[in-house]
Amino acid sequence: MSENHSKITSHTLKNANGVRVEILNLGGIVKSIKTPNKHGVLEDVVLGFDTAADYLKPHPYFGAIAGRYANRIDNGTFTLDNKTYTLAQNNGSNHLHGGIVGFDKVFWDVSPFESEDGVGVRLHYLSEDMEEGYPGNLDVTVTYTLTHDNTLKVGYKATTDKKTILNLTQHSYFNLSGDFSNDILDHELQINASQYLPLNQNQIPVGTLEKVKNTPFDFQNPKPIGKDIAVENAQLEIGKGYDHCWVFDSKGLSKVARVYHAESGRLMEVYTDQPGMQLYTANFLDGTIPSKTGGFYKARSGFCLETQQFPNAPNQVEFPSTILNPNETFTSETWFKFHLIKTKNQ
Ligand code: GLA
Repeated sequence: MSENHSKITSHTLKNANGVRVEILNLGGIVKSIKTPNKHGVLEDVVLGFDTAADYLKPHPYFGAIAGRYANRIDNGTFTLDNKTYTLAQNNGSNHLHGGIVGFDKVFWDVSPFESEDGVGVRLHYLSEDMEEGYPGNLDVTVTYTLTHDNTLKVGYKATTDKKTILNLTQHSYFNLSGDFSNDILDHELQINASQYLPLNQNQIPVGTLEKVKNTPFDFQNPKPIGKDIAVENAQLEIGKGYDHCWVFDSKGLSKVARVYHAESGRLMEVYTDQPGMQLYTANFLDGTIPSKTGGFYKARSGFCLETQQFPNAPNQVEFPSTILNPNETFTSETWFKFHLIKTKNQ
C-alpha cells in the first residue's frame, strides 16, 4: 500500500478563467474539477476524495477511466473466432468495468503538454496480453485537455496486436451544486436520445432498443433528474434508479447531453462520438464513504454520464461491434463543456 502511495502523482490543469482540473496517474482519475458558480465562487463539481491515497482503497470508480471493457459483460465470458475468454465476475455473475484490476486501478505514465486548444496530460498504459483475461497487448492513450473555453476533452486511442474487445469510458460523478450534501435530483438533464437499452434482472441489456417516449427515460426535453426517478417502473426498480444506456440519435462527434443546475448557474454539455451513454444516479452509494464537503456520499449524491459502446455488446451480435483488430487504431472523443448562466437580479 505505502509503495503504491508514493507512486501516485497529481497533475493540475488550469485555464485563464480559473477552471482547474486535477488528474491522477492512478486510474487516470479526475480527482477534482473546480469551476466558478454564478457568484464567482470556485467549487469542486465531482465526487471523490480530498486525499489522493484514498483512491487506493476500494471505491465505486470515482473519476476513473473504466476499461478494458467498461460496463457489464454477461457471465464474464465472450467468444472471439470460436475461442471463449473468461473474465472476472466482479459484479454478481457479471464482469464489470474491466475486472479486478481494471484501468481504474493501474498506474498510467503521464506526460503534460500544451496545445493551441489549452493544456493537458497524456496518459499511457500498456495492458499486456491476457491481462484480466483479455487477449492482445493493448496500447492505450487517454488524453485530457482543459481548453481555453472551459471544456475538459477526453481523447482515447488504442491499438492491439491480437483481435480483442474494447469499451472505454470516464466515470466521473458530477454534482454541479458544488456541495455534495445536496442531491442531484434538481439538476435539469437533457439527453439527445429517443431510445435506451432496457435491462434484465442482472442489469444486462435484454437486446431490444426501447423508445423513451412516454417513459421515465424520456429526457429529450430538459427535465429534473428527480422528476420521474421514483415512479413505479420495472426498469427503474432493476437499476434502483437510472443505471441504463441511452442510444443517441446522432452519429459522429455531437452534442448529446446537457445538464443545468439553476442555483449555481452551472451548465455542462457533453459531446461524444460514442453510440451510447450510461446515466447512473449513484444508486449504490450507501452513505458509508465520507464526502469531500462533509457528511457522506449517498444514492443520488452525484450522476455519471458514461459515454460508451453498448453494455455486453461482445455477446449481443445485433449491437454495434466492439472488436478491435490488429492494424486498426481505435480513437474516440468525449467532451465535458462547462458554462455559466447568469440570470438577471442575482
Ligand atoms: C456503472 C454501473 C453501475 C455501477 C457503477 C459503479 O455506472 O452501471 O451499476 O456499477 O458503475 O458503482
